[in-house]
Amino acid sequence: MPDARPPLTLRLLRADDLPLLHDWLNRPHIVEWWGGEAERPSLDEVLRDYQPDAMAAERVTPYIAMLGDEPVGFAQSYVAMGSGDGWWEDETDPGVRGIDQLLADAWRLNQGLGTRLVGALVERLFADPAVTKLQTDPSPDNQRAIRCYQKAGFVRQGLVTTPDGPAVLMVQTRQDFERSRRPG
Ligand SMILES: CC(C)(COP(=O)(O)OP(=O)(O)OC[C@H]1O[C@@H](n2cnc3c(N)ncnc32)[C@H](O)[C@@H]1OP(=O)(O)O)[C@@H](O)C(=O)NCCC(=O)NCCS
Repeated sequence: MPDARPPLTLRLLRADDLPLLHDWLNRPHIVEWWGGEAERPSLDEVLRDYQPDAMAAERVTPYIAMLGDEPVGFAQSYVAMGSGDGWWEDETDPGVRGIDQLLADAWRLNQGLGTRLVGALVERLFADPAVTKLQTDPSPDNQRAIRCYQKAGFVRQGLVTTPDGPAVLMVQTRQDFERSRRPG
């Protein structure tokens, strides 16, 4: 049966997306897991911190997830080594990328869309031969995100302490990725 659902694709974030992103980052289902009330950003902060050029300087790549023609989510990938500010200080492999993502609409949660988004990001990142491993670090309380990452091929490594507090480190190596795509 052909897949009748609109395709889920990723495109790079543009400066003209930032007012929309500001709206999304203030929605309760996102505030809860994106730094909490203390990190709820103003429009000026989003215009400064999520400016694609500013993010590139920090080696972060931001994306908008599109469902057909409709923007439905945000994602970012970053080079883990040298992140600074206490993040991933023991990382010595320049091929490791971290990822984060969110769905804009609360009514779309728990329908498999996040797993499709993470899958699209995983494909895109491993298309770069320099990438060896992907990691993500959901809060131990964010069981929905943990399950979503598991469905997208990430394996739980254990608890770590990050500058944002305790997190579950989840990893997908290139070997895991290639094995999951082999037929049979
Ligand atoms: C995290 C996020 C991207 C996942 O996308 P999603 O479309 O909701 O996730 P999916 O539907 O693909 O998968 C969710 C899974 O978690 C399960 N789940 C939901 N709540 C759960 C809970 N409290 N405990 C255990 N499992 C739970 C769902 O049943 C589903 O698993 P299943 O398909 O085996 O039934 C999305 O929920 C989101 O944007 N959340 C707000 C922001 C956020 O948390 N971002 C991640 C920061 S690390």
